[in-house]
Amino acid sequence: MNLMKKLEETRKYIEGRLEGRSPVIGLILGSGLGDMADAVEDAVIIDYHDIPHFPVSTVPGHKGRLVIGLLEGKTVLVMQGRFHYYEGYSMEDVVYPIRVMKMLGIRSLFLTNAAGCVNKAWKPGDLMIIEDHIKLVAENPLRGSNPDALGERFFDMTSAYDKKLVKTAEKAAEAKGIEIRKGVYMLFTGPSFETPAEIRFARTAGADAVGMSTVPESIAASHMRMHTLGISCLTNMAAGILDQPLNHEEVLETGERVKKTFSALVREIIRTWPEEMLC
Ligand code: HPA
Repeated sequence: MNLMKKLEETRKYIEGRLEGRSPVIGLILGSGLGDMADAVEDAVIIDYHDIPHFPVSTVPGHKGRLVIGLLEGKTVLVMQGRFHYYEGYSMEDVVYPIRVMKMLGIRSLFLTNAAGCVNKAWKPGDLMIIEDHIKLVAENPLRGSNPDALGERFFDMTSAYDKKLVKTAEKAAEAKGIEIRKGVYMLFTGPSFETPAEIRFARTAGADAVGMSTVPESIAASHMRMHTLGISCLTNMAAGILDQPLNHEEVLETGERVKKTFSALVREIIRTWPEEMLC
């Protein structure tokens, strides 16, 4: 079945379960932020397994569900659990939910993730607004025949991360008294963490953070001219910066430590999301 037909079937199924809700912001919760979905009020919860053509998470313990309801007075569609390229999904699978969001009429996308900190002046636990990204990974979610109904073959990436949303996020951080960084996120495929040499290379190339997600989603969103904001929780110093090995526990621990602050920031951003990007 072709992509647009599949998307149409997925859209119909989800719309059939929304009972009149019309989500205006798509929110993807990265590692450590999953609990935020519990704050969504008047929620409809849809398991990924039940959604026609939706990829299904392979990671044990990963919640895979859409939570649609009210957060800070706005109807949001939250992805509790995202799809990663390192799990074996194609990039096209990884971005399928973003396309579904667009089919549902959503024009704003809020991506969050956990990332390694490349910038030596920063520290684990810092939050970073993504201003731009670097993708040297050869794969691209738009490789192959272009779905013209979604966007153009060749499309702009200069405003992949909406400048107005960067301002919104900065103001929200200020309002909440949260120190915030701004920088460049570089994609690595994982699941291996990077080598120290790769991290030196990333820094030389202009990266402040490295991670294994977000970039495919942001590309697909740009293709569809959605307004995208990305925020990384820098959970650990990237490889080779400190004299110690990396491990997933540290990522989870830091995520847990800053969860409250990160959630407060996410909520304030949603509360103050620019009106014109909602309808
Ligand atoms: N590298 C890549 N992805 C990550 C890291 C890292 O150091 N920390 C959290 N996600």
